[in-house]
Amino acid sequence: MYTQSLSIPDAAAAPPAKSVESAHLVQKFQSRIDDDGRIEPQDWMPEAYRKTLVRQISQHAHSEIVGMLPEGNWISRAPSLKAKAILIAKVQDEGGHGLYLYSAAETLGSSRDEMLAALHSGKAKYSSIFNYPALNWADVGVIGWLVDGAAIMNQIPLCRCSYGPYARAMIRVCKEESFHQRQGYASLLTLMRGTQAQKDMVQDAVNRWWWKCLAMFGPPDSDSHHSAQAMKWGIKRISNDDLRQKFIDATVPQAEVLGVKLPDPDLKWNEARGHYDFGPIDWDEFWQTVNGNGPLNKERLATRVRASEEGAWVREAALARARKQAHTGKEAA
Ligand SMILES: [Fe+2]
Ligand SMILES: [Fe+2]
Repeated sequence: MYTQSLSIPDAAAAPPAKSVESAHLVQKFQSRIDDDGRIEPQDWMPEAYRKTLVRQISQHAHSEIVGMLPEGNWISRAPSLKAKAILIAKVQDEGGHGLYLYSAAETLGSSRDEMLAALHSGKAKYSSIFNYPALNWADVGVIGWLVDGAAIMNQIPLCRCSYGPYARAMIRVCKEESFHQRQGYASLLTLMRGTQAQKDMVQDAVNRWWWKCLAMFGPPDSDSHHSAQAMKWGIKRISNDDLRQKFIDATVPQAEVLGVKLPDPDLKWNEARGHYDFGPIDWDEFWQTVNGNGPLNKERLATRVRASEEGAWVREAALARARKQAHTGKEAA
């Protein structure tokens, strides 16, 4: 998953370090960003920039691997062998996205063990969209169409992020997200050509996910206190409200082709603005879920912790094998 709006301070985040950084270094760093250059791991960077990126990239990585869970539940119940193969590939991609992102965050000096410990203890955040259940097969299609669709909208600007390893990871992630969005839409088109019960199932799933996807872009710009700094650092390129509007404008025509109704009585083309107007988002519900009180927060976290514990022997075996190979290699040399 999934979003630049995710850079939400963790409960235990340390206060920003007092600046003892020389004005010269800061100026050199900022001019490189202003010239659209990239900051690489070996380059000097302000401590606050490094911390912001570690938080954002690790939250993004956590979102990818927690994001495997709602759809992973449907692998054993996919309606055909082809649908199952597509879903397995998609869920596996999300695991891969997590790996690229943990690797990118590691270049900033944060170990994978530390990041995973923060996730497992509940200190670190991940995208709150994954704290909602996928109740039926149409949810799997709607997650691909809308959740991955919102992810693409959020992540394309990250391909131009000022931090090189993050930007490069996002290029491949975006290509794969594009496949995810299309497979979701294709699956929904199939259902919409089916029986009335199948069409109703799609409409019900759209009704449940639409507003949650709009909230994925994060709080309104007027309430996004860290945005100005993230923009100055070239981490964030487009504001939450502008991304949300782009997503709505792109999605309404897709809903028309599909034949579903988006559940917003205020959704209407505004000729003067050249955009769709839309109704108010329930931010109380968003913050409730971000703060741990969504329908599945506890279950998602418990599943990740259990997966980590049950997989410990695999990691230990892989490390033992690597050590043995390194040892054998040395002897042969
Ligand atoms: Fe992903
Ligand atoms: Fe995806």
